[in-house]
Amino acid sequence: MQRLDKYLANLWLLSRREAPLMCKKGAVLVNWEIIKKADYKLQWWEIISLDWKEIKVLEQVYCILYKSAWYISSDEDEFWYLSYKKQMLDCPYVNLLHVAWRLDVDTEWLLLLSNDGQFIHQVISPKRDKEKEYEVWLEKEINEDSCLELEHWVILDDWYNTKPAKVEKIEDKKILLTITEGKYHQVKRMLESVHNKVVYLKRLRIWDWNLDWINPWEWKLVEV
Ligand code: URA
Repeated sequence: MQRLDKYLANLWLLSRREAPLMCKKGAVLVNWEIIKKADYKLQWWEIISLDWKEIKVLEQVYCILYKSAWYISSDEDEFWYLSYKKQMLDCPYVNLLHVAWRLDVDTEWLLLLSNDGQFIHQVISPKRDKEKEYEVWLEKEINEDSCLELEHWVILDDWYNTKPAKVEKIEDKKILLTITEGKYHQVKRMLESVHNKVVYLKRLRIWDWNLDWINPWEWKLVEV
């Protein structure tokens, strides 16, 4: 449970100074009733109304986003790249969220986001073997031997031996690759180790969450 003014400020709907003042003025409704007490203890699932917006009070938020290429997976903009958060400014929880499994800036599609640190840790922990599936477009045709190598293990440029992966060849220059790890640029480096090159990469699935549920540019709350 959290204080009303604190929750509003955490969502960045109001500043820490503004939040108690707006409550006092009667500008904030909880369950469609004016609540003037800034220290009102919110129950999870109550509904706050402010500026014609209705926001469900959620303790833990889980969300998927169809990230576009050229947006970065970090919470802040970096150099000339915009943060993925700029793609979901209409999400009332945007300022609470952090990424589980980053995606390269030139890579599109599925980002999993939450404010639940324990959940993020579970998803990204190498011990948990959570599958991530990628569609990988290649510069050159890939042969059976390379697919077998990727399936068993390959040695990356830092001498790391990858864990077993699943490989399905869809076209001469396109595979589906499922891995359970998430080393830096892992897919690109795995393909380099079999003397090929990724020209385009799309993440289709993280664990049980997949892109069938979401359109380009969309975000969606999901249940865990
Ligand atoms: N592997 C990569 O090479 N890039 C990503 O963004 C994710 C996995």
